[in-house]
Formats: sequence, C-alpha cells, structure tokens
Amino acid sequence: MDTRTFGFFTLLLITLVKAEDPYHFFEWKITYGTMSPLGIPQQVILINDKFPGPVINCTSNNNIVVNVFNNLDEPFLMTWNGVQHRKNSWVDGTPGTMCPIQPGTNFTYKFQVKDQIGSYYYFPTTALHRAAGAMGVIQIHSRPLIPVPFDNPADEFAVIVGDWFNKGHKSMKNLLDGGKSIGRPDGLHINGKSAQVGAQGEPSWTFEAGKTYRFRFCNVGMRTSVNFRFQGHDMKLVELEGSHVMQNDYMSLDLHVGQCLSVLVTADQPPKDYYLVVSSRFTKQPHTTVATVRYKGSNSPASPELPPPPPDHTAGIAWSINQFRSYRWNLTASAARPNPQGSYHYGQINITRTIKLVNSRNYVDGKLRFAFNGVSHVDPKTPLKLSEYFGVADKEFKYDIIADEPPSDVEKNVKIAPNVVNATYRNFVEIIFENRENTIQTYHLDGYSFFAVAVEPGRWSPEKRKNYNLEDALSRHNVAVFPGCWAAVMLTLDNAGMWSLRSEMWERFYLGQQLYVSVLSPERSLRDEYSLPETTQLCGIVANMPKPPGYI
Ligand SMILES: *[C@@H]1O[C@H](CO)[C@@H](O)[C@H](O)[C@H]1NC(C)=O
Ligand SMILES: *[C@@H]1O[C@H](CO)[C@@H](O)[C@H](O)[C@H]1NC(C)=O
Ligand SMILES: *[C@@H]1O[C@H](CO)[C@@H](O)[C@H](O)[C@H]1NC(C)=O
Ligand SMILES: *[C@@H]1O[C@H](CO)[C@@H](O)[C@H](O)[C@H]1NC(C)=O
Ligand SMILES: *[C@@H]1O[C@H](CO)[C@@H](O)[C@H](O)[C@H]1NC(C)=O
Repeated sequence: MDTRTFGFFTLLLITLVKAEDPYHFFEWKITYGTMSPLGIPQQVILINDKFPGPVINCTSNNNIVVNVFNNLDEPFLMTWNGVQHRKNSWVDGTPGTMCPIQPGTNFTYKFQVKDQIGSYYYFPTTALHRAAGAMGVIQIHSRPLIPVPFDNPADEFAVIVGDWFNKGHKSMKNLLDGGKSIGRPDGLHINGKSAQVGAQGEPSWTFEAGKTYRFRFCNVGMRTSVNFRFQGHDMKLVELEGSHVMQNDYMSLDLHVGQCLSVLVTADQPPKDYYLVVSSRFTKQPHTTVATVRYKGSNSPASPELPPPPPDHTAGIAWSINQFRSYRWNLTASAARPNPQGSYHYGQINITRTIKLVNSRNYVDGKLRFAFNGVSHVDPKTPLKLSEYFGVADKEFKYDIIADEPPSDVEKNVKIAPNVVNATYRNFVEIIFENRENTIQTYHLDGYSFFAVAVEPGRWSPEKRKNYNLEDALSRHNVAVFPGCWAAVMLTLDNAGMWSLRSEMWERFYLGQQLYVSVLSPERSLRDEYSLPETTQLCGIVANMPKPPGYI
C-alpha cells in the first residue's frame, strides 16, 4: 500500500467511524499549454492537460479535497466562486485569505459544500490567470431525500462561456501594470472552443428524442455579458446560483460575468442538428459563436439561420432588467435543506447597517485604477486574514478607510490602499451598489449568498426601499448593475471570516475595485469559525511567527 492509498483508507475509516459526509478527492496538475479558443494557437492554463478543467460533481455537505500542483512559473491560487466555505475563509483562495501556492509546490484545499446546492465555478485569482484558463464548473446536487422541483434530467452538461482575448494573459497583465486597459475581447468561447455557422465539426452534446437535459451555464469571461439561446428549443430556467426559481420558459437568457444558472431543454423537435448560440451584449464590437447539439442518428446539419438576439443598447438594458425581475424564488421548493426556501423571511428582518458603494474609474499618476467609494484596493504583503489572526493587522492595513456613504467627490479622487470593512457578526446588512458609469458592472461577495431585492435606474435613496422585493427575490451571490442604475442586496453576516467583495469584471478587480469584509465572531469561538488549519501556508510578516492559540 503506498502512502496515498494508506491515507485514503485512513480517511475512509474515519469516515465510517464518524459517519462523516462523503469525500471527493482530486489531484490537479496546473500547467501551461497551447490551445486555440478562437482558432489562433496561444498559451493557456490547463488542469490535468485540459481546459475547461474537471467538473466538480458533488452533493450538498460533501467534503472536497483538491491537491493543486502549481507547475506554472508564477504563484497561483484557485477560488471556488459561490462556494460559501462556512466558518472557513482559510481556503477561499483569494489573495486576502491565503498565501499563493509557489511554483513547483502543491497545496491541498479541503472544504465542505455545506448546505448548498446549485451551479458554481472555480477560477484562479492570481496575476491575470483568469484570462488564460484553469476554470471549470462546480455542480452541487440535492441530497437524496430532499425533493427537487423538477424531474431528474436524462443527463446534465456543464458549459462555461465567456469572452476571450488573443493577446495572452501575460501581455494583458503588462498592460494593466502599465496603467492601461486590456481593451476589447477578440471573441467568445463555449467550453474553450468557438465555431462559425456552417463549419462542420463534432457536436458538443447529443440528444435523444423525447428526453430532457440540464445545462449548467457559467459566464467566466473577463468583462462581457452574453446572451444564449438554442435554435428551435425553449429553455426552462430551474436554478440560479443555488436558488430554485419559479420555472419559466425563455427563448434566450442574458448571463452576466460571474453568473451561473441551470436550464432544462427538452428534445422535442425534428431530429437534426441545432446550434447553441452565444452572443455578446452591450459591446461596441459584437461577437457571436455557436456549438452544435445533435439528435442521435441525425445527419442533417443545423440551419444557418440563427435565432435573433434580444434588443441591444438602451432597449436591451430595459429588456435585461425585465428579465432579472422575472426571476423569482420558488417559496415552496426546497434547496439544500428539507424546509422550503420561503421559510426564511428575509423581508421581515430589520436592517442594522447600510453600506452604499459607488464604483469609479480614475487615473492615479497617469495610471488607470478602479475604486469603491474612492479607494482602490491593493493586497498587502501578508494575506489580510493571516495578519488579522496573528494580531499584526495594524502593521499591514487599517480597517474602515471607506465610509458607509461615498464621499461627494467619489468620482474625482482615488486613494490606493488595502480596503477592509470591519463588519459585525450576525448583523443584517443592506449593500447598495450605485453605478454612475456608462458600462454594466457585476458584483460578487464570497462566503455568502444575498437577496438581490432591487435593480433600478437612477440614484438610490432610502425611499426606494418601498419598491424592494421583500417576498421572493433570489438568494444568490452575484448581481449585475446596469449603466446608470443601482442594485440593493441584503444578507445576514452569519459566516465569520475575511470575505472578498468584488467586481467580477476582472480588469476592475485587478486594478482595485474590490474590498474585504472582515466578520469576526466576538467570542472567537470554534462554533463560529474554524481555527487556522494545520496545513495553511504562512508568508509575509507572519511567515515565521508562532501560531496563536486557536479558537476554543
Ligand atoms: C454527479 O453526481 C450526481 C449525484 O451524486 C450523480 O447522480 C451523477 O451521476 C454524477 N454525474 C457524473 C457525471 O458523475
Ligand atoms: C503535496 O502532495 C503530496 C503528494 O500527494 C501530499 O502528500 C502532500 O500533503 C501535499 N502537500 C500539501 C501542502 O498539500
Ligand atoms: C415550485 O416548487 C414546487 C415544489 O415545492 C413545484 O411543485 C412547483 O412546480 C414549483 N413551481 C414553479 C413555478 O416552478
Ligand atoms: C424592527 O423595527 C421596528 C421599528 O423600528 C420594531 O418595531 C420591530 O420590533 C423590529 N423588529 C425586530 C424583529 O427587531
Ligand atoms: C470592529 O467593530 C467592532 C464593533 O462592531 C469593534 O468592537 C472592533 O473594535 C472593531 N475592530 C476594529 C479592528 O476596528
């Protein structure tokens, strides 16, 4: 028995003895490779020689163990977008929570997908690796005895879509480091490939007539919202970022950067080939790409006539906001727990704090920066969570350098500093995102899902609260804020840790439009947060410090 097998059996024994939730083990080799997402060979980042990376297919409460071997020439970190890591921001994979995995070394992420179902994805947070690959889908199924509000599909397909740049992640990073924008993408990919209408190729998916399939879509791009649609087939939206929705049929769906959802598609059309069409939204240079779905036994190619996109520009924004408003929580359906989603009455909880964040784009010493409330975040030498835990945060950063209200000159001035908000454990907070720019934004919070209760044109004011959806808004982790609009989200800060709140537009994230929310349990109790795991790598000013006594 080699040590790995031995380790596995030891774990298995522990599993049997403690009746722990099942484990899934992964060993991932991260390397550079060459692929042609848009038909031009270029450097990409592969996981076990593949892009997209493996699908993490699991069930609520399963334990996930991923041993990541970094064979790149740069430090590397992976984050698990939308996985809440309850009590465990230690493995969140953002630069504020973990020391990066050094080249030629490995690190084992261990986490539990506690009380979650739904569709998520993982991606790298270091350098500009997200522009190069190392991404894939995480699908969390309901436990066997918990009812799912639709019939089991015949099969399920994980699909990552996004914009792609041919210039390569290293030159893109150089542009940003030099204070310039990465510019516009060169095209879109579907699972790392792009195809033109009429080009003969292998189908991406095969349907059997009469059966229903679940597609999980995630927009993993750098900045571009997309719309997707199937020729001849409607889609029934069933799940969005871990919420079971009121099921409606859509001819096409918008998917903004960082968002994931599941649709059911029934093979109820004449047996031939059909295109899945993905097109860009709200961009000066539109892009479209297709992939083929083939009915078993078909030898008729897909029609070259593509279903038209929804309106674009101003009318398109109204269309997209309406689509957002059509997403409703199914109050009687269960999610990860047996009780119905609607048994959590978020609309009846009093707000204890309102944080209003205004995004801005500025130049500092001639270099492009992006900010929240006038502060453009930089990561200090030591991950924030570690300097906080070791009691040396004051050497690295100051808490609360932004106020809960943006300053009046928010669009004019920007300061570069670590941006960390001190939040109170278990507070029920309202976060307003006000987008005064003329481009769409998407925002995401780690460690939580929030209720996205409103997206409206104009500026926010307290009177707008009377228009919030306090009944059946979706619980999710990402919200799109359209140009000149605001969005309101609400959540209970019941997950202690250091959590990234960020723009999912990756150029903006890289150039500072992000902050961390520090949520500490006042009792420093193991009930609320795990102690620093034994295996955590230390770096920066805590590298050689003795470990503090853990929580008890
Ligand atoms: C994914 O997990 C679910 C639930 O455990 C299982 O039913 C399904 O067969 C798995 N799919 C694959 C491709 O392994
Ligand atoms: C690195 O991989 C080896 C071999 O699988 C494993 O034994 C070791 O625990 C890993 N190291 C870390 C820090 O995860
Ligand atoms: C809502 O969920 C229930 C299961 O509790 C299901 O029977 C019903 O069809 C769902 N409604 C819609 C509109 O999706
Ligand atoms: C919420 O606030 C209202 C008015 O301020 C108060 O009457 C009510 O008791 C509060 N509800 C809870 C659950 O604290
Ligand atoms: C954070 O806020 C709490 C009150 O909620 C306060 O007790 C604590 O001192 C603050 N911590 C820092 C570092 O400012």
